[in-house]
Amino acid sequence: MAEAIPATISGQPVLILREGSTRARGKEAQRSNITAAKIIAESVKTSLGPKGMDKMLVASFGDVTVTNDGATILKEMDVQHPAAKMLVEVAKTQDDEVGDGTTTAVVMCGELLSKAEDLIEKDVHPTVIVDGYRAATEKAIELLGSLAIKVDPKDKNILKKVAVVSLVTKILGEYAEQIGDMAVEAVLQTAEATPQGYKVDIDDIKVEKKAGESLTDTRLIQGVVLDKEVVHPEMPKRVENPKIALLNAALEVEKTEIDAKINVETPGQMKAFLDEEEKMLRDMVEKVAKAGAIVLICQKGIDDAAQHFLARKGILAVRRVSEKDIDKLAKATDGKMVTNLDDLNPQDLGSAKLVEERKVADDKMTFVEGCKNPKAVTILIRGGTERIVDEAERCIHDALCVVRDVVRDPRVVIGGGAIECEVAAQLKRWAEKLSGREQLAAADFAEAFEVIPLTLAENAGLDPIDIIVELRSRHEKGEKWAGVDTFDGKVKDMSKVGVYEPLSVKEQIVKSASEAATMILKIDDVIASGKMKEQAGPPKTPGAEEGASEFD
Ligand SMILES: Nc1ncnc2c1ncn2[C@@H]1O[C@H](COP(=O)(O)OP(=O)(O)OP(=O)(O)O)[C@@H](O)[C@H]1O
Ligand SMILES: [Mg+2]
Repeated sequence: MAEAIPATISGQPVLILREGSTRARGKEAQRSNITAAKIIAESVKTSLGPKGMDKMLVASFGDVTVTNDGATILKEMDVQHPAAKMLVEVAKTQDDEVGDGTTTAVVMCGELLSKAEDLIEKDVHPTVIVDGYRAATEKAIELLGSLAIKVDPKDKNILKKVAVVSLVTKILGEYAEQIGDMAVEAVLQTAEATPQGYKVDIDDIKVEKKAGESLTDTRLIQGVVLDKEVVHPEMPKRVENPKIALLNAALEVEKTEIDAKINVETPGQMKAFLDEEEKMLRDMVEKVAKAGAIVLICQKGIDDAAQHFLARKGILAVRRVSEKDIDKLAKATDGKMVTNLDDLNPQDLGSAKLVEERKVADDKMTFVEGCKNPKAVTILIRGGTERIVDEAERCIHDALCVVRDVVRDPRVVIGGGAIECEVAAQLKRWAEKLSGREQLAAADFAEAFEVIPLTLAENAGLDPIDIIVELRSRHEKGEKWAGVDTFDGKVKDMSKVGVYEPLSVKEQIVKSASEAATMILKIDDVIASGKMKEQAGPPKTPGAEEGASEFD
């Protein structure tokens, strides 16, 4: 219904919003937004930690995804409610920035909103809550920094622990040791030392997947694996110590841009025309051979005749390789991508120990491996089914990200809820010194950190109240790394268990959870246009349903 503001003196109502628009204001708007966000947080809560459960998500076309990754769960859920969508964005930002901790960020944001809701009920104004939360965020980040442990960015032992912690919470938990080693190797191999520290680009690590065999057959390859076959059956399928040309040009006769017509009058002329074309292709192949290349990796096409000539020269060629892969090949083989065949020089060629076409499951793939000190490597994931390799890919992404995070910023904190409990305790003490109602909000912010150990305990089937009471008292006594060991159900010094996590992940969790929570809290008016209402359709998640009542 179009909304009217009070009528003017003449009794004429003033219409502001278009017909069909809906509006929710004040506490009503806040309540529905908070409810929606809380339900989203609730839905990922059970997947937190080593004992967390997985989710099966079925897309509208019937595609099934089985995952434990917070960001993926929320992405696949197809959330409709606008406030709920903000939580999905929290997970996405977390994933983009640091790669791990997406579930924690969403759970934390839900808890912050839940605490804020109680305060609103007690008539604390949202602006006061927002101010308290902001001040507490700043303090929490400061505390995290002061509690962090400095490590050596090249210390494989520490890096492996960080990788293993991110993997044990996932499907790859059983293989965490093996995959953890691979993630560390891959990141260190591609890391570049700069005066400001190490620079790592996860894109330099190619993750290729093929269903078949088992997860234990996942391998790290010192080079690049291309999901392409050798173009011609007569070409060699295996070349040792080859020189490799990386070409971003087609081995084809170029078609002219203008429409031209050639009148051929005699068979001789026709033959001369075709001969000329063939000669051009032959010349191209000659240039590749002259530069000394035994392997040709081409970004564009290779004409049938050119393939034949290449095969005759004993050159192994692969075509239509993506630009990204060529970039990685250049980094791995120390070669240079050439855009014009005339410029191909012997010094542009890369090298590897072996280039070989192999059958992986039902497909043929080309392996460029054994590169010397490669700056790009590949992890080839194998696993029982398509869904397992998909989830394994997400897990490996998390592991690579956390290792990168520590190599980039070599500071870690202790997980298993230990860091959260310590920050909560110190933050509470700090909040007590604040004045007025802001103190209430800051104290609640501090308490919200405890949702992490609480949830870890709950998911492991432990009594969350017992655990939290013990944790609080042990932190009170100065045991700053006391956390929940979900494997044997006890409160322990988690630094001895070796649950190391990157500081940057925890910092990002606090930042994104707090920003999203304060943003949601500051909304006191939700105006939905009629058009949006139509697009939104019926809410799909139970969360959206409850919270979206005014959009229906
Ligand atoms: N061995 C362990 N014992 C107790 N807690 C652990 C252990 N290993 C990891 N954790 C905790 O599990 C939590 C991480 O769980 P999980 O990986 O499921 O969520 P996330 O990292 O927040 O999100 P996602 O991995 O989905 O992006 C962290 O709080 C971490 O400290
Ligand atoms: Mg994780």
